[in-house]
Amino acid sequence: MLFKKKNRKSELDMSRLPTHIGVIMDGNGRWAKKRGLPRSAGHQAGADTLKKIVTECNKMGIKYITVYAFSTENWKRPKEEVDFLMNLLMSYLKDAERTLAGENVVIRAIGSRRELSEEMCRQIEKTENFTKNNTGIVMNIALNYGGREEIVHAVKDIFKKLEDGECNIGDVDADMISDNLYTKGQPDPDFIIRTSNEQRLSNFMMWQASYSEFYFTERLWPDFSVKDLHDAIIEYQSRDRRYGGV
Ligand code: IPE
Ligand code: IPE
Ligand code: MG
Repeated sequence: MLFKKKNRKSELDMSRLPTHIGVIMDGNGRWAKKRGLPRSAGHQAGADTLKKIVTECNKMGIKYITVYAFSTENWKRPKEEVDFLMNLLMSYLKDAERTLAGENVVIRAIGSRRELSEEMCRQIEKTENFTKNNTGIVMNIALNYGGREEIVHAVKDIFKKLEDGECNIGDVDADMISDNLYTKGQPDPDFIIRTSNEQRLSNFMMWQASYSEFYFTERLWPDFSVKDLHDAIIEYQSRDRRYGGV
């Protein structure tokens, strides 16, 4: 049987951009391995890609981007790699104060602070304060972030409010849960991109991704280009989001 090819547009429609993009930046290790380099070189190259992609999203007028930088499960990696990633994230935050803040980006870290070093927590607060009055894209860096941890954290906060008599059990609804997540006040991600050909969430924004559109690409994160971003958004613009309706 012959199927008519769907007439897919090949140009970006700047009036129909996703408001919030999530990015699971995967494949740094494989990128390095292919080149005979240590995994750390892949993470370093991935950090450079991140800056380029955030700058472009901001330029395009996208309002929110959440990037998965370190999951609650990534502590399982060798200490040497974890230490490298933490140092890289620290210098990314420091550097972002000069570069991304100059580009008007609001930088926030989402995830649990409990396992992070004091030094890292101080740097996060400093960068968040430094950029909080900016008016460009909001960049959530998911750092020691896990979707399940986030929901547990929200449930505990709600229990505390119940215990303190600030609300009743009948008040608990989906909006209340959303309002107790790290992304409080932000719209859910419309579009989630994952690089390196893995097709799973790996504990990323489990609550918020209920109606997100997914895009999986073989490209390894350090190779992900501005053109790849545009191609992904063009694909997003061809999707029919029905939210359970018709
Ligand atoms: C993503 O790249 C970065 C982090 C998870 C911190 P990986 O390090 O997972 O790279 P691969 O998946 O091993 O190639
Ligand atoms: C997800 O990638 C976490 C980040 C991108 C930070 P992983 O490489 O940790 O995920 P799995 O282990 O392949 O599911
Ligand atoms: Mg990986």
